[in-house]
Amino acid sequence: MSIRRLPPELINRIAAGEVVERPASALKELVENSLDAGARQVAVRLHAGGLELVEVTDDGSGMAPDEMRLALERHATSKLPENAIDRVTSFGFRGEALPSIASVARLTIESRVRGADGWRIEIDHGEPVGEGPAALPPGTRIWVEGLFDKVPARRKFLRSPRAEYAACLDAVKRLAMARSDVGFTLDHDGRRILTLLPTDAPARVAELLSHELDRHGVGIDCTRDGLRLTGVIGLPTFNRGMADQQYLFVNSRPVKDRLLVGALRAAYRDLIARDRHPIAALFLDVPLDEVDVNVHPAKTEVRFRDPSAVRGLIVGGLRHALDDESGRSAAREQAAAPVMWTTSESYQAQPTLAVGGSVVREQQAAFEPMGFVPAARAEPAIEPVPSYPLGVARGQVAATYIVAEAEDGLVIVDQHAAHERLVLERMRAAREGGAIARQALLIPEVVELDEPDCDRLEGAAADLADMGLEIERFGPGSILVRSVPAALGKTNAAALVADLAAEIAELGGPISLRDKLDLVAATIACHGSVRAGRILSVAEMNALLREMEVTPRSGQCNHGRPTWVKLGHGEIEKLFGRK
Ligand SMILES: Nc1ncnc2c1ncn2[C@@H]1O[C@H](COP(=O)(O)OP(=O)(O)OP(=O)(O)O)[C@@H](O)[C@H]1O
Ligand SMILES: [Mg+2]
Repeated sequence: MSIRRLPPELINRIAAGEVVERPASALKELVENSLDAGARQVAVRLHAGGLELVEVTDDGSGMAPDEMRLALERHATSKLPENAIDRVTSFGFRGEALPSIASVARLTIESRVRGADGWRIEIDHGEPVGEGPAALPPGTRIWVEGLFDKVPARRKFLRSPRAEYAACLDAVKRLAMARSDVGFTLDHDGRRILTLLPTDAPARVAELLSHELDRHGVGIDCTRDGLRLTGVIGLPTFNRGMADQQYLFVNSRPVKDRLLVGALRAAYRDLIARDRHPIAALFLDVPLDEVDVNVHPAKTEVRFRDPSAVRGLIVGGLRHALDDESGRSAAREQAAAPVMWTTSESYQAQPTLAVGGSVVREQQAAFEPMGFVPAARAEPAIEPVPSYPLGVARGQVAATYIVAEAEDGLVIVDQHAAHERLVLERMRAAREGGAIARQALLIPEVVELDEPDCDRLEGAAADLADMGLEIERFGPGSILVRSVPAALGKTNAAALVADLAAEIAELGGPISLRDKLDLVAATIACHGSVRAGRILSVAEMNALLREMEVTPRSGQCNHGRPTWVKLGHGEIEKLFGRK
């Protein structure tokens, strides 16, 4: 066996495999370099989702020609102060990104230091192919063409231009949130997608995250043991079908760190269903010696000296903020039967039943504004109880629960969960029996969404039409809704369509959608259901109970929680010490 040194191009290519996986990772490295160079303005241009072109122009420090040549050498960096790898404040620190990218694409750098002339260097798959003077304003422009064109092993992992574009957009958003003081533009295939003026962090986050966070967000600002956490998180009721709106930063560096994601998840545990995800933009600031940034090839994970302190701060801080807002958010699920029953003493001290009411009213406002009369109405129990398994409705509590009297006990039904199930089963039955009835909107509704979301919906339009939801592309960032499934009744088309886009993204696109119609139908059903917070008449309540009795699988809502609980006579007697 003979050992030989690998040639530098091969070493670079191996490193490239770790640093650049796809256009979005090259883009991330280039924008990070611009920010490290002190840019006030960063312009990104993409063609075909970055597969054909990724270009980043900045007004930063620029490089002199010999610095440019050095920048393309492996492990050449201007950024490590006295080689102090434990005190890194810049995005870059390894001198790895540029040579890696240059080894797997055609890369051109133009750069100019203020007061000097500009220079250009071209590299083709690691080979210098030319250099010379260039005319440009002070700063740097780097463009990358044909990434992985000559590296088939890598090329085959690339996805469609649309998918690559979505990843690029995400990368720009993350860095733009990390550095709200810098202006950004993003152009894709000649179209301006983003224009972000320099601003402060809350304004930048509001611009890039769901606008609805104005109403459905909770501000975070807490400090513990020298760690500081700031940002904004969504109310539990304002969640997503996928974890795509979670932006986490450590010392202004965007990360996708498992510890942080886990802590976020833990803070919402028992506040949202397992298959839903919170929205968050969280900025963690920790002393430099508390965190090691050099643990991941794409620099997206970090290692904390004291992970439990970080976790504690996040879980505690978020939990506290959410508790303070509990009047606005959904009450914690007490889904697991047997129910906790409030005794008359504790009821006076803490009117728990009222909480649910105030809670859902807020939620309701977002969907269908209507007058709300807080009321726990009761029907006089005059008629004898016929032998319906779910009994006869006696009243509604907190505009959320139906209380019914059955022969063998007291039944409590979660009206939203129950109705959601019924709508789903109705849609299923209708689909089996042919087409689903649709209801045309008098005025088609225009829904504004991210471009990738629109792409996904457009791709699934035919399948959605089969389910009664007719949509049409209406410009790059909007979708026109022409009809909704009739089973839904009055519904908020915007919220429905946004949720569906997330759902489709998670299911992996239109190809597999046909197989997953049930899941999509469930999302639709949720929107069509009687909201908690809506006052029902006794007749409506009884109709719901009767339909539940004859509908398969009606004991569980579409998220797996029970739709009703029964308290047997024996159990009631026990509560009062009669047994
Ligand atoms: N846009 C730019 N403006 C000015 N200098 C730049 C720019 N991009 C790169 N450089 C210079 O080129 C060097 C190499 O960049 P490269 O991204 O390869 O490494 P790095 O940023 O030092 O570390 P890392 O590999 O962690 O990103 C940088 O240290 C910097 O001096
Ligand atoms: Mg770099």
